[in-house]
Amino acid sequence: MINVQFAALPARWDTYREPLKRAFDEAGLTVDMRQDHPADQVDYVVYAPNSDLQDFTPYTRCKAVLNLWAGVEKIVGNQTLTMPLCRMVDPGLTAGMVEWVSGHVLRYHLDIDRSIAMQDRWEPVVPPLAFERPVTVLGLGALGSACAQSLARIGFPVTGWSRSAKEIDGIKCLHGDHGLKQALSEAEIVILLLPDTPATNNILNADTLAMLPKGARIINPGRGPLIDDAALLEALDSGQVGHATLDVFRVEPLPADDPYWAHPNVTVTPHIAAETRASTASQVIAENIRRGEAGEPFLHLVDRSLGY
Ligand SMILES: NC(=O)c1ccc[n+]([C@@H]2O[C@H](COP(=O)([O-])OP(=O)(O)OC[C@H]3O[C@@H](n4cnc5c(N)ncnc54)[C@H](OP(=O)(O)O)[C@@H]3O)[C@@H](O)[C@H]2O)c1
Repeated sequence: MINVQFAALPARWDTYREPLKRAFDEAGLTVDMRQDHPADQVDYVVYAPNSDLQDFTPYTRCKAVLNLWAGVEKIVGNQTLTMPLCRMVDPGLTAGMVEWVSGHVLRYHLDIDRSIAMQDRWEPVVPPLAFERPVTVLGLGALGSACAQSLARIGFPVTGWSRSAKEIDGIKCLHGDHGLKQALSEAEIVILLLPDTPATNNILNADTLAMLPKGARIINPGRGPLIDDAALLEALDSGQVGHATLDVFRVEPLPADDPYWAHPNVTVTPHIAAETRASTASQVIAENIRRGEAGEPFLHLVDRSLGY
């Protein structure tokens, strides 16, 4: 019997209990999953960083903590978490992100806002084709690479930027400081899909925003701290940035008096770009437990030194 502790907000238990049970059965695992195992009896923790569980010291036989979220910034620095930590790479979450990013890119590309505002006039403006609209994706991980490839399939010339060098079919892949400058200087639309780490904090700041072509649009479904908010507001006011769609913020929910709410060139969405989907994510969790039991390497292990 494998003891699995489910440590997430109580409402999540109802969402995940049946899909996880099904996935464990399908993987041939005999699992006793509860929210209240004695800590020293737990083999694996299925975890959301906003759960009450923050001290992993008593989880002495735990083989891995399996995160339900893609982002690990809230847990990666926890010194009591000494066992392997796996982040979530979920096909359902990835599909959601691809759809959300594609929708917001196409809103900008086709100037859909103009059509909505022009319901009393017949003044045709033909948008360019996708191949005439360079798009840059910062971050080429599970989500960034899927979005980049999907946008490239629509026809956009896509540049991607990551920490290490990459080769992805149909994408111009850049890395390093020089790569960032090049990636930004060509971008009419920039999508941020980087993790929140010390190295990515304020990656979009006054200097890097100035590298963009005037009027570029920014879409941030990554994390709030990737953007220096004061610099973005200034760039929006000066027209250096034409518009921003922001799904994530330093403080969430975004406070009522935050200037982003009232800014005419900002769209705020409430951290809904992509949610982990219970049915597909449960299969990922089950596969990682199967691997742990078989002595095989875990999928999607977090590198603590890099913070993602
Ligand atoms: N808004 C939402 O609903 C939502 C939902 C899910 C996730 N997210 C966010 O999306 C982020 C990305 O998720 P993911 O699954 O794609 O992560 P991932 O697979 O870990 O990919 C991260 C990417 O960022 C790159 N990167 C990391 N540090 C960098 C640096 N200092 N300079 C340049 N590139 C750097 C990595 O480069 P390498 O390839 O070289 O390692 C990798 O390409 C998550 O961390 C989370 O914050 C948001």
